[in-house]
Amino acid sequence: MLLEARQVTRMFGQKAAVDQVSFAVEKPAFIGIIGRSGAGKSTFLRMMNRLTEATSGELLFEGRNILSLQGKSMRDWQGQCAMIFQQFNLVPRADVVSNVLHGTLARRGTLSTMFGFWPDDDTLKALAILDRLGIAEQAAKRAEALSGGQQQRVAIARALMQDPKIILADEPIASLDPMNAQLVMDTLRRIHDEDRRLVIANLHTLDTARRYCDRVIGMRDGRVVFDGSPDQLTTGVARDIYGADASFNESATSTSIEGLGRQGDDAYALAMLN
Ligand SMILES: Nc1ncnc2c1ncn2[C@@H]1O[C@H](COP(=O)(O)OP(=O)(O)O)[C@@H](O)[C@H]1O
Ligand SMILES: [Mg+2]
Repeated sequence: MLLEARQVTRMFGQKAAVDQVSFAVEKPAFIGIIGRSGAGKSTFLRMMNRLTEATSGELLFEGRNILSLQGKSMRDWQGQCAMIFQQFNLVPRADVVSNVLHGTLARRGTLSTMFGFWPDDDTLKALAILDRLGIAEQAAKRAEALSGGQQQRVAIARALMQDPKIILADEPIASLDPMNAQLVMDTLRRIHDEDRRLVIANLHTLDTARRYCDRVIGMRDGRVVFDGSPDQLTTGVARDIYGADASFNESATSTSIEGLGRQGDDAYALAMLN
């Protein structure tokens, strides 16, 4: 088993933000976690890379409970699972290539980093990754000069610099227009397909999850209420996940990617529920 969550729970006071979440992943897959705002998606990802402590439960990666790692082994784990955020989290005034090189920070001293001394081979690797993601021409620009879609690809490049086994993406396209959202999702999918890395992405729209994921986990009030393939994600199931009432409107479109490519017959207005 590659990854196994066993009753992972996170309490905030009396409230379970993540409530006994269990699932198993046999081999690298592209997994989407969906659910309305407050469902516990971010808290779960943050427990995976140890930004937040779990209250109870186990999270086994290749048989090892990563929730109990401490010190250097915890930091090594954090290097193994790179995180991508909605707001990119780049250093805006630093150039693109330096931002990508920050992906090597975990294994470098702060002084050389502060003064911008990067080993040549790391710089070449960063440039090769930027080239792979189609943004090599942007390498010398300040991050803030790039479009949102380009900035998110820089963040993905920074993640790849760590050569992670897992890429965790917390609403990676929530700040992007549909065209850039598609570019970023295509990039994440390609990284999964070509490198066989496990990708777990929190997504706020159902159509994106359907289009890109091999498997979708639906969360509601901290619990897993759906775990299956995209084609099992029927309207009824989606209603259950999103806790939608009469305002759940199938015909309206969201920040949908679908409109750009093949038109889905099931674009949902789920963004408005978030
Ligand atoms: N640091 C915190 N302190 C208290 N409550 C929190 C904290 N972080 C998250 N929560 C609560 O936990 C629940 C799940 O939040 P979150 O994981 O951010 O959901 P999602 O990412 O699905 O929107 C929410 O009810 C939220 O208010
Ligand atoms: Mg969130």
